[in-house]
Amino acid sequence: MISLDEQTERDFFDKNFSTYISPIDRIDKYFMDYLLLHINKKLMILDIGGGGGQFANSCVKNMPNCKVTIVDPSKKMLDSANDYNINIIKIQGGLPNKLNVTETYDTVHINNVIHHIVDTSPKLSKKKVYESLLNIKDTMNSDSKLLFGDIFYDGHIYPPISKFLIFYLLKIQNILGYKFKDDNFLLGLNVCFYSKYELEKLINDAGFKIEKTYKYEWKKSYKTALLGIKRYGRIGFILSKMN
Ligand SMILES: C[S@@+](CC[C@H](N)C(=O)[O-])C[C@H]1O[C@@H](n2cnc3c(N)ncnc32)[C@H](O)[C@@H]1O
Repeated sequence: MISLDEQTERDFFDKNFSTYISPIDRIDKYFMDYLLLHINKKLMILDIGGGGGQFANSCVKNMPNCKVTIVDPSKKMLDSANDYNINIIKIQGGLPNKLNVTETYDTVHINNVIHHIVDTSPKLSKKKVYESLLNIKDTMNSDSKLLFGDIFYDGHIYPPISKFLIFYLLKIQNILGYKFKDDNFLLGLNVCFYSKYELEKLINDAGFKIEKTYKYEWKKSYKTALLGIKRYGRIGFILSKMN
């Protein structure tokens, strides 16, 4: 049985799938360069929330002998991923605990997904991400790497402040059924963003070691000032399991 939260999330991505199919971002390019430099090319890769298939396509293009399993809750996202390459496998499933895979993988990739794993409050959402990280660990062997990327928001004075503002503004928007004037605030969207420190703490608490970090920041505007944002951007971590 899937929960109401999971059903809402799945419906949201089924409805908005075309918005989320974009070329791979700078964090994924960084991950790809890392894979090409460090890893043998016969990799077994698990791409969680890789629905549109952009990262999987890039993997099979650059490393023709690798196999990529995409797990995503949205059927529409999965349908839009490559159907022609036998090295790409698609499975409907999702975090925190329905990955629906039984194997272990050399590399697990998850980018731009964890801020979509939400619950009724930021605190419970963070708990779900923590649980997700523990379950991701079970899909890895002792030498596997986790390529983990997301957006970070650091607020002024109290870094997680922007997380609360965005989380509850979206809730209000969804309850009212009235879309605020911001292209990123899609109706029905629920997100919980973390500060850089919170992401690092989640990673450490879940038993991962940070091997490398790459981040870049976006320019600020009057809107980001209103949301109390000091800095924000994308961050990617290359992680291994702590022993
Ligand atoms: C913003 S898109 C990112 C897609 C891709 N990873 C990228 O970076 O372009 C978020 C993806 O996460 C998937 N997703 C949402 N909730 C998820 C969950 N609980 N577990 C796994 N994937 C999820 C969505 O269906 C969607 O494909």
